[in-house]
Amino acid sequence: MAYLEIIGLGKRFGGVDVLHDVDLTLEKGQILSLIGPSGEGKTTFLRCLNFLETPDRGILRLNGETLFDAAQVKAKGKKPSRRAFGLVFQAFHLFPQYTVLENVMLAPTLAKKGRREELREKALDLIAKVGLADKADSYPNTLSGGQQQRAAIARALAMEPDVLCFDEPTSALDPLLTREVLNVIRLLKREGRTMIVVTHEMGFAREASDRVAFLSRGTVAELGTPGEIFEAPRTEALQRFLRE
Ligand SMILES: Nc1ncnc2c1ncn2[C@@H]1O[C@H](COP(=O)(O)OP(=O)(O)OP(=O)(O)O)[C@@H](O)[C@H]1O
Ligand SMILES: [Mg+2]
Repeated sequence: MAYLEIIGLGKRFGGVDVLHDVDLTLEKGQILSLIGPSGEGKTTFLRCLNFLETPDRGILRLNGETLFDAAQVKAKGKKPSRRAFGLVFQAFHLFPQYTVLENVMLAPTLAKKGRREELREKALDLIAKVGLADKADSYPNTLSGGQQQRAAIARALAMEPDVLCFDEPTSALDPLLTREVLNVIRLLKREGRTMIVVTHEMGFAREASDRVAFLSRGTVAELGTPGEIFEAPRTEALQRFLRE
């Protein structure tokens, strides 16, 4: 049994199957990179995992526990049992009126994850981990894009997600800042975190991920090791995508 199992996930918007029959598995501590053409469902997929959208079909299981079953939700109005996923957005989405430290502490404080002093210590540790120890009291608009994205990563980690998802975490950044953010993701990988990264950074996907999924027309058209996906693409769609 895989650590994360996604079975038959589907999502419709206005009668269109934006996602359908998405099957994926991932082992603990692995990075899955999700690649694919624009507008074919990558963000929607991450939003479904994070329950920012409710999937219309499918089952999500983590460590053998069913987190979500669309049939149960429909039949009994049963909500997802808990939040197992965290999400780092493309455009950071930090709260501009709060410092880095306040941004990182907000969600665990609201969720009553611990005493204030304890949460503060944890937040400062995370901020140091992403290399922002000297920026804890800074406001987002005084930080570079790469620093803002690293603060957003610390904020997502503060909720202690089982699986951390990233939606094109570097697409708003220039190459130097991109490297800073990818280095943080590599560090998290060394710590054994399980991650799903939607990315256009093919170099990163090839070198840092354990599995790569190619999402095309709302479903997983190919899934394999970086070697299989990049050296031996089977479908015409993936061959075309990699050429472009
Ligand atoms: N809330 C919504 N209502 C209606 N349609 C939506 C909604 N969200 C997404 N879609 C549609 O779903 C499809 C997939 O969008 P999505 O944002 O998941 O693509 P993507 O693969 O992340 O694209 P990109 O690489 O450009 O970020 C698009 O056709 C989009 O217009
Ligand atoms: Mg997207």
